[in-house]
Amino acid sequence: MNRIFSGIQPTGNLHLGNYLGAIRNWVDLQGAYECLYCIVDLHAITLWQEPDVLRASTREVTAGLIAAGIDPDKNIVFNQSVNPDHATLAWVFNCVARLGWLNRMTQFKEKAGKNRENASVGLYAYPNLMAADILAYKATHVPVGDDQKQHLELARDIAQKFNSDFKVDLFPLPEPMILGEATRVMSLRDGRSKMSKSDPSEYSRINLTDGPDDIALKIRRAKTDPEPLPREAAGLEGRPEADNLIGIYAALSRKSREAALAAVGGMQFSLFKQELTDLAVSILGPIGEEMQRLVKDPGYIDGVLRKGGERARAVSRPVIEEVYERVGFVQP
Ligand code: TRP
Repeated sequence: MNRIFSGIQPTGNLHLGNYLGAIRNWVDLQGAYECLYCIVDLHAITLWQEPDVLRASTREVTAGLIAAGIDPDKNIVFNQSVNPDHATLAWVFNCVARLGWLNRMTQFKEKAGKNRENASVGLYAYPNLMAADILAYKATHVPVGDDQKQHLELARDIAQKFNSDFKVDLFPLPEPMILGEATRVMSLRDGRSKMSKSDPSEYSRINLTDGPDDIALKIRRAKTDPEPLPREAAGLEGRPEADNLIGIYAALSRKSREAALAAVGGMQFSLFKQELTDLAVSILGPIGEEMQRLVKDPGYIDGVLRKGGERARAVSRPVIEEVYERVGFVQP
């Protein structure tokens, strides 16, 4: 069976963008693939994280995945640091990947900002660790957002160079599964920027733990324009906020924009916002409640992560041994 690996960073609150853009797709993929879903805490510390906050976020993201419907018995759910094979393979890949390859990574340039001299070495080597995440399990498919396409290309380059340097066919070239452009969720305050945990305005995003009142308030305050909703998708052009709210409505009801507009086109925003609130509350409400319940039981969460980590390691160990053998390390 094909094997999926994907990762999510335990930084900040989970929001609607994480849910529609990644987590719900992960839920849909279980069963059809053997899935490893990893909370990538090693990646998180490439930027400064307060230790207590990192711990809480790791458990919260785990709770979010389970609450959203990922079954930790049928899939392998774990945090990256519990399986030492990620960091182990990443070191080998540090010696396979070329400086020139990493120098082209646009995300490093964005995240390092102006003061590149002060960025951590880990932030620079981030894509090598991501390649190790995937290849330690010989994963064949990787669901990622558009922003991770370049990193996945790099993982393929690393796999290929390793195979050719050591004249083996050890690593499969992992295929990206680019997650729907259609489910790109934008800020509720600005339809041109992505919904993000780092936006200073709480009104810009719906968190998965928001209750019905918060959801209603945030949707009511969402930016709109003065026109009623168009009846066809073409009418959303040049109206980023309308497009975003329709996109969210369509994604939550699992419809295309066209089909969504067949139901709500022509409405005034005030009425549409009530519809959207009801829909969002009906789907996110139960997830948020379950998440709140689960985070109160860190013993359960940690048990899931521990068991997931053990299962993950059982898959990666033989791969690492094969790599070490090929590289020429004596394994006495
Ligand atoms: N870099 C990814 C992100 O920020 C997270 C990630 C880490 C990942 N390792 C991965 C995604 C491996 C897919 C496969 O979204």
